[in-house]
Amino acid sequence: MSSGPSTPDNSSTAVERPGSRPGTDPNAVRVGIIGYGYWGPNIVRNLSALDGWHVAAVCDQKPTALARAGKMYPGVQLTADAADVLKSPDIDVVAVITPVWTHFDLAKTGLENGKHVFVEKPFTSTAAQAEQLIELAARKNLQIMVDHTFLFNGAVRKIRELVDNGTVGPLYYFDSTRVNLGLFQHDVSVVWDLAPHDLSVMDHIIGQKPEAVVATGGNHLNELADMAFITVYFPGNVTAHINVNWLSPVKIRTTLIGGRDKMLVWNDLEPDEKIRVYDRGVEIASGQGLYDLLVSYRSGDVWSPKVDATEALRTELKYFLDCIVRGQAPTNDGASGLRIVRLLEAAEQSLKARGKLIEL
Ligand SMILES: NC(=O)c1ccc[n+]([C@@H]2O[C@H](COP(=O)([O-])OP(=O)(O)OC[C@H]3O[C@@H](n4cnc5c(N)ncnc54)[C@H](O)[C@@H]3O)[C@@H](O)[C@H]2O)c1
Repeated sequence: MSSGPSTPDNSSTAVERPGSRPGTDPNAVRVGIIGYGYWGPNIVRNLSALDGWHVAAVCDQKPTALARAGKMYPGVQLTADAADVLKSPDIDVVAVITPVWTHFDLAKTGLENGKHVFVEKPFTSTAAQAEQLIELAARKNLQIMVDHTFLFNGAVRKIRELVDNGTVGPLYYFDSTRVNLGLFQHDVSVVWDLAPHDLSVMDHIIGQKPEAVVATGGNHLNELADMAFITVYFPGNVTAHINVNWLSPVKIRTTLIGGRDKMLVWNDLEPDEKIRVYDRGVEIASGQGLYDLLVSYRSGDVWSPKVDATEALRTELKYFLDCIVRGQAPTNDGASGLRIVRLLEAAEQSLKARGKLIEL
């Protein structure tokens, strides 16, 4: 398993440079954000609030988006042309918060111009694109962080701790449901829009290389799948299942994680007890044949561990700053983005073939 995200103290940050704007931290890492639609404002808000970052520019093709940004952040440079950010000598990091089909070109130009890049999920539209970006970043000694936000969610960090410290025991399954009415996307299916969240959490918790993927689903309003059931097979008989759906009458965000020793329920919509740990399980003391099985059910305590409520994006962006300053690859680096894109490609291929098993 890769090491989990840390929550560093960013008191020491990079190189002092002359000629910084008055009132800004001369050591701050200067970031330009491309894309100020639905998700971009959350990135800008967190970057603006964190020490060590300086939001130097916000870019969006839409004048209305730029007007919104200008109202919130009066001193920040605004531009409709991504090249102003990607090629600026006054910017160290580019955050790409645009639709997935634009990620590759924007991130590539950023890397070519010597910028570290923060790229939204899903990392790229194809695995081949992700591989190119990883190679380019390595050659230029630059960092890529893919915004797998949920890896920095307090509940996910707690679950990882409970798996790593042996509380859960050997894993049996991971079963995640993320359904709601909408938000329909125009450019990607529900698989590429919602499943990256569940797949990245699955990848982080299970920490093994998956063997095969099966996906079924359907589209009802246009040619893009609006519901999908994805099964991922891992070595050691560990199975993951992900249910993503834009056509659900109710919002559900629940993940079940079954282990030999404990079973967990993570309900992300629960305000207080987000995780419940069940001391429940099944033991089989066997006789000879099918009818001699002695099944005993364990039904012990249920408890709810404390979960850090810090906004995940805040923790994530603090961690990215630390990675840049230390020259270290983040946990959610390009390679982690690529693992998810490979799974998405396999799921899409399987879905189109009505559930064909795709070996990875
Ligand atoms: N991590 C999360 O939890 C999370 C949540 C929502 C969305 N996202 C991701 O964020 C990305 C953006 O999603 P969104 O919902 O904000 O989309 P959106 O369509 O609401 O916003 C994207 C913005 O980017 C602008 N844009 C597109 N191409 C541009 C370019 N070349 N130059 C300048 N501006 C450009 C558009 O004008 C638009 O305002 C997607 O990859 C999505 O998957 C992540």
